[in-house]
Amino acid sequence: MTKYIVTGATGNLGKRVVADLLNFTVAGDITAAVHSLNKAKYLVQSEINVQAIDYLNPQTMVPVFSKADVLVYIPSKTYNIVQRVQELENVLAAMQAANMTEMIFVSFYADQENNPFTMSGYYGYAPRRLAAAGIKYAVLKNSLYTDPLIPYLPELIERKALIYPVGDQKMSFISYDNSAEAIAKVAVTPELRNQGQIYTLTQNEALDMQTLGKIMTTVTGHQIGYQPVSVTEFAEIYAAEGDGTELASMYQAGRLGLFDVVTSDFETITGKQPTDMLTFLKLNYHE
Ligand SMILES: NC(=O)c1ccc[n+]([C@@H]2O[C@H](COP(=O)([O-])OP(=O)(O)OC[C@H]3O[C@@H](n4cnc5c(N)ncnc54)[C@H](OP(=O)(O)O)[C@@H]3O)[C@@H](O)[C@H]2O)c1
Repeated sequence: MTKYIVTGATGNLGKRVVADLLNFTVAGDITAAVHSLNKAKYLVQSEINVQAIDYLNPQTMVPVFSKADVLVYIPSKTYNIVQRVQELENVLAAMQAANMTEMIFVSFYADQENNPFTMSGYYGYAPRRLAAAGIKYAVLKNSLYTDPLIPYLPELIERKALIYPVGDQKMSFISYDNSAEAIAKVAVTPELRNQGQIYTLTQNEALDMQTLGKIMTTVTGHQIGYQPVSVTEFAEIYAAEGDGTELASMYQAGRLGLFDVVTSDFETITGKQPTDMLTFLKLNYHE
């Protein structure tokens, strides 16, 4: 039986990938590779193998990788681009030392050459690096996650408007659940992953912010329009949260029309339709 490792397995996406893999294989064939063991307590009752690893320390990864066949690599969220590249390099070095040759790389669609997002250099680098690594792999690029919109809604209701600095451009989204389902399916299906395939996971339509605001108005019962601020203002408004500048650079990419990508890759992989924005928000918004 093929053995799978999911990194970042205590994270928002990783825990869902682990759960979805159980639809295809037994718990004993899954290793949850976690950064902080204390966040993995909920897995202890299961037969899923839990192992601590640190992307910054290849020695922690080699013994774990040497017992499995397919690595689902969910990167950390650090905005330190040199560190993020080093983490990928360490993972590849550990795979080589462990004679592991198959990887699913979880990426983000902000990878165009002219993309100003702080991390776009990393997302441009990673697939090229994998192409040269002599391994079998696939890349699944997520579009913007829908899920952070749910805790953001109370602020939007108060503001009475979305403020993303993207003008009239459209952006595409995907939910954690849909993303995880596609990642798990690709992991268990060799023909979907062993030829350097590149997938972009999106809902069936990209949304301009007026339209997104209308959907939010329908779901919440509160008027949410669109009053864009500038990229600089956006960075200032969210500076206190620590990543205002990075998020502003991301929406600057949206303003350039770089996030309006729509594909049918989710359907190609799963045979299902992705959850649309109205349905997602209705299912997950509770006043
Ligand atoms: N599409 C989008 O809109 C969007 C938005 C934000 C992020 N992302 C990307 O999507 C991916 C998953 O997001 P998420 O929400 O699931 O993130 P998350 O919940 O923060 O999960 C990231 C996981 O990586 C682990 N990790 C961090 N540093 C590590 C290290 N040095 N060694 C080993 N593991 C480490 C974390 O463990 P600990 O918590 O124990 O450190 C955590 O389990 C990330 O790569 C992120 O950059 C995409």
